[in-house]
Amino acid sequence: MDLKGKKAFIAGIGDDQGYGWAIAKALAEAGAEIIIGTWTPILKIFTQSWSMGKFDESRKLASGKLMEYAKVYPLDAMFDKPEDVPQEIRENKRYLDASGYTVSEVVAAVVRDFGHIDILVHSLANGPEVKKPLLETSRAGYLAAISSSAYSFVSLLAHFGPHMPPGSAALSLTYIASERAVPGYGGGMSSAKAALESDTRVLAWEAGRKWQIRVNTISAGPLGSRAAKAIGFIGKMIEYSKANAPLVKEMEAEEVGASAAFLLSPKASAITGVTLYVDNGLHAMGLAVDSPTLI
Ligand SMILES: NC(=O)c1ccc[n+]([C@@H]2O[C@H](COP(=O)([O-])OP(=O)(O)OC[C@H]3O[C@@H](n4cnc5c(N)ncnc54)[C@H](O)[C@@H]3O)[C@@H](O)[C@H]2O)c1
Repeated sequence: MDLKGKKAFIAGIGDDQGYGWAIAKALAEAGAEIIIGTWTPILKIFTQSWSMGKFDESRKLASGKLMEYAKVYPLDAMFDKPEDVPQEIRENKRYLDASGYTVSEVVAAVVRDFGHIDILVHSLANGPEVKKPLLETSRAGYLAAISSSAYSFVSLLAHFGPHMPPGSAALSLTYIASERAVPGYGGGMSSAKAALESDTRVLAWEAGRKWQIRVNTISAGPLGSRAAKAIGFIGKMIEYSKANAPLVKEMEAEEVGASAAFLLSPKASAITGVTLYVDNGLHAMGLAVDSPTLI
């Protein structure tokens, strides 16, 4: 796969443990230039960890060289323009020194610095009440989950679209809880993923006709990322997948990275509006084969 000369903006890298990192690495392996959007409150720790060498082992490419990024921007994808940022966020100590982190400002800065992008990756999600069942989720919690986990993709694509040449591609990450009930994945996060998948189809149509941009999403299997650990039961989900999926092995983030690089490359030039399962086949099962009731 050859992505030399392509510029990729990846929103949602905070460390070397998540899907965003794995996708960036696969794109870098193929020669793409990596531009990162990191959540404003964790930008400092991310860049410090990077420069202290904490990620060096994970940065190693097949050639032996280390993955580099061209630039990293603070991003809070909850907000589209400066006037959207509430006072309490502005005054939060983790935002005080930061500026230009709303979607429109980040896109303007990327366009100023790089001219255009060819690849947009949305690898971010946040549900403040994710641990609460849907029945106990507040309106504010539900809307926050949708805003940061689904509308953020719409907004990023709407702002970047005019600066992505025909043939460019966008990708997000979703989860099977959008279409099957997964107890424990609460707070409106399942609703946000359902919105994200529906939006993938509508955006494929709209961005396809408007800019000739392809839009797809990957429904990924469970991974012990920082975000997933915060939900609390990721270890059990990984075990469940191993016990019940057609392929008996742990999901590697690199497997999602490789699939993402394909979908974002010209090799997938006729693929758009798709939800691609990269989950060891777990989505295909209608029965938990390890259920005690089957014994
Ligand atoms: N880990 C899993 O099991 C799994 C499974 C399927 C799908 N996914 C999806 O993969 C994507 C990446 O998550 P991950 O699990 O790799 O975890 P991760 O922690 O590596 O990535 C999530 C990122 O989102 C960022 N973020 C949160 N709110 C933000 C905001 N308002 N603005 C900008 N950035 C924000 C976080 O800082 C973090 O860096 C998410 O969409 C997630 O739902 C994860």
